Amino acid sequence: MSALLPSPAAAVIPFLRAQGVHRTYHVGGAAIEALRGVDLTVQKGERVFLCGPSGAGKTTLLYVLGGLERPDAGSVFLEGDSIYGRSDARQATLRNAAIGYIFQNYLLLPELTALENVCLPAMIGGHQSKARAAELLGKVGLSPRLHHLPAQLSGGEQQRVAIARSLINNPSVVFADEPTGNLDSKTGTEVMNLLLSVVADEGKTLMVVTHDTRLAGQGDRMLVLRDGMLVD
Ligand SMILES: Nc1ncnc2c1ncn2[C@@H]1O[C@H](COP(=O)(O)OP(=O)(O)OP(=O)(O)O)[C@@H](O)[C@H]1O
Ligand SMILES: [Mg+2]
Repeated sequence: MSALLPSPAAAVIPFLRAQGVHRTYHVGGAAIEALRGVDLTVQKGERVFLCGPSGAGKTTLLYVLGGLERPDAGSVFLEGDSIYGRSDARQATLRNAAIGYIFQNYLLLPELTALENVCLPAMIGGHQSKARAAELLGKVGLSPRLHHLPAQLSGGEQQRVAIARSLINNPSVVFADEPTGNLDSKTGTEVMNLLLSVVADEGKTLMVVTHDTRLAGQGDRMLVLRDGMLVD
């Protein structure tokens, strides 16, 4: 019977952990230390906001945590597994299968409809998922817009398509970089509330970068980054 119980070690592994993360960019002989020793843990299902001034390293940290930017030093663990300790092919599989991304400028493919854009990450992973894509577009209030091209959608609608797309492969975590940065304040608030509620409804962990501390108050926790380090 005891083999069926989770081991004490498994019980304490945090969902997401960064340890001693450094990232320096080199431009024209100058070194820019974007991240200078970041340690953090995020628990499963937490919705964490990452705030801080422009140039503080927020995007760099989100990319490092999301498997998009290898740190120069330090490690990132997702459910106990080192992301950058894997082969490049296994990192790509992880990014497609376990992680959802939302960017400030939506990054929808202009020649694909809303439905096709949402299906795309599933097709890349070798799955058919039209029904699930339509369900997710319904959750973000876009059932009447399935066959619209991005150019036929408002900014807020395009970002809602991107939210649905981030969830299509049933990831365990979603990373969003300034998802409301291109929207007016009312639409931005609506989109952020929708993101928080859809992610909670789907049982996902979320990390969102935002300048807007007014929106950040709605998450479970707020982290502040300044000059490449988290501040208390
Ligand atoms: N690809 C790059 N090459 C060189 N320097 C970079 C690169 N990306 C970021 N930086 C620098 O690293 C620092 C952190 O940048 P980052 O984009 O992470 O900041 P940020 O907190 O997201 O800022 P913002 O709020 O303006 O988006 C900045 O000084 C930036 O100029
Ligand atoms: Mg940024």
